[in-house]
Amino acid sequence: EELAREQAFEARIDAGDFIEAKDWMPEHYRKTLVRQISQHAHSEIVGMLPEGNWITRAPTLKRKAILLAKVQDEGGHGLYLYAAAETLGTSRDEMTAALLSGKAKYSSIFNYPTLTWADIGVIGWLVDGAAIMNQVPLCRCSYAPYARAMIRVCREESFHQRQGYESLLVMMQKGTAQQKAMVQDAVNRWWWPALMMFGPADKDSPNSEQSIRWGIKRVTNDQLRQKFVDATIPQAEILGVTVPDPDLKWNAERESYDFGAIDWAEFWRVVGGEGPCNRERLAARNKAWDDGAWVRDAAMAHAKKQATKAQA
Ligand code: ACO
Repeated sequence: EELAREQAFEARIDAGDFIEAKDWMPEHYRKTLVRQISQHAHSEIVGMLPEGNWITRAPTLKRKAILLAKVQDEGGHGLYLYAAAETLGTSRDEMTAALLSGKAKYSSIFNYPTLTWADIGVIGWLVDGAAIMNQVPLCRCSYAPYARAMIRVCREESFHQRQGYESLLVMMQKGTAQQKAMVQDAVNRWWWPALMMFGPADKDSPNSEQSIRWGIKRVTNDQLRQKFVDATIPQAEILGVTVPDPDLKWNAERESYDFGAIDWAEFWRVVGGEGPCNRERLAARNKAWDDGAWVRDAAMAHAKKQATKAQA
């Protein structure tokens, strides 16, 4: 009977069907989704920190309002994603515990520091740009609750990307020489980490083959990275910045850019907890959790009181 269910599931996937929370699914499919969705949720929540660092120092009221809204959106994305993961039978508490103990992964990119205001624009342009490239295909993920969450997330990410690019355009077109240099410096620091966001090369990606077969991922890590480079270089030209890659070259035959080798040793170091800000990020999340204990306790006490009243 188990085999028949498995075959029926595979047939649904092959037919392009979407899977809902209550449908039967193989344990490995469920585990893969919990892994990916919870990592994605953690990335949104940890991703609030590097940008949150600049809210009090945004240069104008307008930029501050935009940044506040954006960081708040990331918090919202984290919540939808935790909720999507919960439909697979994992509790929010379990996922939170895994993040706070350092056991869970989250995107490597958020372990780099935001040193200047230009970093905020570059995060919008490159980091959110890479996130959109990776996430638009996830709107067609075979697991429907995740796919539905991604539709709204992608709309908001698109606003994030544009606000970042626009703020850089202002600095490059109206800024002082020093401000322009600041933008170029930020691009130099974020370019390679942004390319690493797409994950290891396909040949070194243990999860890709099965995830593609199940329609969890629709496009491979290397394909997405290439699409990102091809879409981003013309934007860099309009902006008037260069990317720190001497091997970058248009390949007329492939109609794509060739680009230099990624430093995978750096990538695995950061994923393994040894990036420039890993410790700082985990400490900030743990502090927020501890500082929020009284709010959780109060909410629980209130809920209990309401329930007792309702019974009486
Ligand atoms: N940072 C940290 N870990 C990574 C990264 C990265 N940039 N890329 C890959 N990894 C991890 C994987 O999680 C996996 O570890 P695990 O098996 O312990 O879970 C391991 O490296 C090998 O990678 P893959 O086999 O390629 O893993 P996978 O098929 O899950 O692909 C990817 C990785 C592309 C990140 C995929 O999980 C995905 O698309 N996730 C959803 C999007 C997302 O999480 N975005 C977060 C950043 S964007 C943002 O939040 C604004």
